[in-house]
Amino acid sequence: MKRFLMLCLPLLLLAAAYQLLMTYDNDFPFGRMRETPAVRPHENPILVMESGLVPFQGGEALYRAAAPETLKSPFITKDAALIESGRKLYFTYCHQCHGKHFDGNGTVGQSFAPLPTDLRSEYVQEQSEGRLFQHISYGIGGKGRQPALATTIEIQDRWKIVAFVQSLGIRKPGG
Ligand code: HEC
Repeated sequence: MKRFLMLCLPLLLLAAAYQLLMTYDNDFPFGRMRETPAVRPHENPILVMESGLVPFQGGEALYRAAAPETLKSPFITKDAALIESGRKLYFTYCHQCHGKHFDGNGTVGQSFAPLPTDLRSEYVQEQSEGRLFQHISYGIGGKGRQPALATTIEIQDRWKIVAFVQSLGIRKPGG
């Protein structure tokens, strides 16, 4: 009997520990670091201009200097396929800070002060698409902690993310 117990006890403890870990994985609001999808260096290189060329149209400098209200998405922003690709991009570039529920509870975000903003707050949802675009591209506006992602995310993809964020709408009480 004693031998039997000696054998069962570690197994039981192991099962309990596993269960605890699973509960933590599924129910802890911040998620776990190892599940954060990482973009590997040079995974999808952004095009680099040939040397000796000078842009005379468009470009980041113009986006940055423009009044936010004059910046318009090149897409039909209510399009379901567009929003879906924006969702995928959000879960690549934003969710580690802003969280899977868009409330600012992302794992990485917890080390920031102030904490990442709730993207479904009235404050964010009432912003124009141009302001959101400039904010994620250059860190303009906000409280100065948002990383400037212009060199990380292509322009078109940024507009897709903006469309997705705006599609979320203001959080309902308790939601
Ligand atoms: C490395 C962490 C981090 C990442 C990645 C990140 N954010 Fe943020 N974000 C923050 C923090 C911290 C704040 C709050 C402080 C501030 O406003 O500067 C913030 C604020 C914001 C705000 C509020 C701006 C305002 O007007 O006050 C918006 C909107 C936003 N982020 C959108 C995004 C989107 C969309 C992405 C993905 C493209 C993203 N963020 C990626 C950390 C992050």
